[in-house]
Amino acid sequence: HPPVLTIDGPSGAGKGTVSRIVARRLGWHYLDSGALYRAVGVAASWADIDTSDASALVRCTFDTKVRFVETADGALRVMVNETDATDELRLETTGALASAIAAIPEVRSALKERQRAFRVEPGLVADGRDMGTVIFPDAPFKVFLTASAEERAERRHKQLKDKGVSVNFDDLLREIMARDARDAQRTVAPLKPADDAVVIDTSGIGIDEVVARVLDLLPV
Ligand code: C5P
Repeated sequence: HPPVLTIDGPSGAGKGTVSRIVARRLGWHYLDSGALYRAVGVAASWADIDTSDASALVRCTFDTKVRFVETADGALRVMVNETDATDELRLETTGALASAIAAIPEVRSALKERQRAFRVEPGLVADGRDMGTVIFPDAPFKVFLTASAEERAERRHKQLKDKGVSVNFDDLLREIMARDARDAQRTVAPLKPADDAVVIDTSGIGIDEVVARVLDLLPV
């Protein structure tokens, strides 16, 4: 099996940024598993599927085609059923929808093999909530990134501001805490570190330092 580095944790802990940098340094593939759940959410909203209709959501999961495309400048675009959904995917409303859908066991199992298919040579950095616990339990390298809810909300707030999106900080904090609570309390694959994961609290630490600590776990 090609090696896997799993990077799990709550929203806004820096998983996406850290995973992308580490994957680039190692020359490994990158799996943004949250984008798969978000993609199903976007496809479901395009199809006007009600979030309470679990069987329609499961069908939608099987029917939704997701393709990651790297642009010439190295940015990653996400195609959902061949439509570029990158911007819609990033919305906090999409995150909330993804979190609701991700609590359905059949949706999770429908995405299991699709995620495992990303494990190809020379290696994979897998970013998500259950990468180290459910999808790649045998991964040789596991990290769990955390940070205080306030710090995570601040980062998300800044990220959105940089993109020209203005949102109310308190609303954002409330949404992030609600989503984390849902992710941690669900019965299938609840958000928690794998027993053999190295937990890194990124509060007050810069990205470079987090990247260095993660790379330290890997043999050079
Ligand atoms: O990481 P991201 O914020 O894109 O994930 C969106 C939502 O998808 C999370 O709040 C979580 O509910 C769900 N998710 C999951 N398992 C993963 C990745 C994401 O349940 N491996």
